Amino acid sequence: MATLFISGTDTGVGKTLVTTLLAAYWRQYAGGKSLGLMKLLQTGIGDREHYQDRFGDQTTWDLVTPQQWQTPVAPPIAAQREGQAIALDVVWQKLRELQARHPQILVEGLGSLGSPVTEELTVADLAGLWKLETLLVVPVQLGAMGQAIAQVALARQCKVKLRGLVLSCHSPESAEKLRDWADPDLLKQLTQLPILGIIPPLKTKHYHHLEKLAQVASQCDINALLLGLKKQDSSEYNV
Ligand SMILES: Nc1ncnc2c1ncn2[C@@H]1O[C@H](COP(=O)(O)OP(=O)(O)OP(=O)(O)O)[C@@H](O)[C@H]1O
Ligand SMILES: [Mg+2]
Repeated sequence: MATLFISGTDTGVGKTLVTTLLAAYWRQYAGGKSLGLMKLLQTGIGDREHYQDRFGDQTTWDLVTPQQWQTPVAPPIAAQREGQAIALDVVWQKLRELQARHPQILVEGLGSLGSPVTEELTVADLAGLWKLETLLVVPVQLGAMGQAIAQVALARQCKVKLRGLVLSCHSPESAEKLRDWADPDLLKQLTQLPILGIIPPLKTKHYHHLEKLAQVASQCDINALLLGLKKQDSSEYNV
């Protein structure tokens, strides 16, 4: 089994999008093999529903959110407000179950690597302790390079196995300003990590189009992190 943890430099930067691209790629090219897909912890609504909507019909897959709170704030605060304690042992147990059952697991983090998970631990602490192979999603926008470099420093401090960065262009403008806002060469040089993908701005009509999403994933190197899958050739995604 292989487990890939998808983290990011902030909330709302494209972690769900990158996880969805990877899952769509797996669905398309893994020859029917099953997948475990987990949202580490969820506060508020959003990601669980998003995955259920896209992949709920995959009968051999497990889509899990072991712990969830209604209040859309950091887990220690949500847990205190709602009187439901965080049980990381439950999350760990669930992850182990998925690892026993599926050849590939994708785990979407919450917030950034610096986000609090409990009163003692951040996401980076957890990724380091659980030895999770990790991707860092970076949004292409002003200020992104500083955030990415700081997150990489935190990851190193917490001994996170960071495999590389994925840059997400959330708008046509961000794609045009890629070299101004998140220069791949500069980021590579300053973090000493590979840039595993540059996600183009996706059209809204393609958000549900799993074949299209698999095609987008096939054009960057993130798919090479999935267990034993050969890189697929495919034509360009038309922006
Ligand atoms: N390449 C892209 N093309 C189009 N839209 C994008 C792209 N990258 C990110 N977005 C948009 O940015 C928004 C936030 O992305 P997403 O939900 O994946 O973030 P997240 O990091 O998972 O957030 P959270 O911390 O809440 O889990 C979404 O509306 C998503 O569609
Ligand atoms: Mg998300």
